[in-house]
Amino acid sequence: MTKMMPDLEGYFRGLAPDSDALLLELEVEATRESIPIVGPVVGELLFVLARATGAARILELGAATGYSGIFLGRACAGIKGRVISLELDEAMAQRARGNFARAGLSEVMEVRVGEALKLMAEMSETFDLIFLDIDKKSYLPALSLCRRLLRPGGLLVADNVGFSGAADFNREILENPAWRAVHLLSFLPRHSPEHDGLALAVKEARPGRLW
Ligand SMILES: C[S@@+](CC[C@H](N)C(=O)[O-])C[C@H]1O[C@@H](n2cnc3c(N)ncnc32)[C@H](O)[C@@H]1O
Repeated sequence: MTKMMPDLEGYFRGLAPDSDALLLELEVEATRESIPIVGPVVGELLFVLARATGAARILELGAATGYSGIFLGRACAGIKGRVISLELDEAMAQRARGNFARAGLSEVMEVRVGEALKLMAEMSETFDLIFLDIDKKSYLPALSLCRRLLRPGGLLVADNVGFSGAADFNREILENPAWRAVHLLSFLPRHSPEHDGLALAVKEARPGRLW
């Protein structure tokens, strides 16, 4: 009979990707200052998704110190991609810029300071991938803006959808035919928090379920 690992979480913790010195430093800093970063598993997931989809135009909502942005920037640097990262807090934005420079990603990353919904409403660029990681009450209002800014077939990745504030967003993205979405309840080592939900959604080119 097939058996599960006895300590499934311990086992998966051991499978979490190794972080380099810069990412480790940001992880330690995040723990010390209670900055809710995505950690190495979601970071690597972002890298894999960006690489697999060939995303060259990436929008990140919520830069903090630049931890998740480094994964996105590294994923698209080789194809001359660009990541625009939006951050409300001026001091955080400065830290993110400094960390992007340390990662050798200054040419790839642009940090814009302000309220994400307002900045998005003023944007006319289109994106291949959007990563949503801001305050949860903004998730639902951000959804129509994400839809406008994503190209048809573009990918939306939303972190922290296990938070109660994301409930309206979760329902809307499942019910709105403009999206095809899946929610994952996940164990995410060194993510804040380690048990949380992720949503992945593609912007349908022609809204309406074909199958
Ligand atoms: C969860 S942290 C982002 C963590 C980051 N993505 C990482 O994993 O490295 C959320 C960040 O979004 C910023 N933020 C929250 N609400 C925002 C909003 N409405 N517009 C822009 N930034 C926002 C916060 O200041 C904070 O730095």
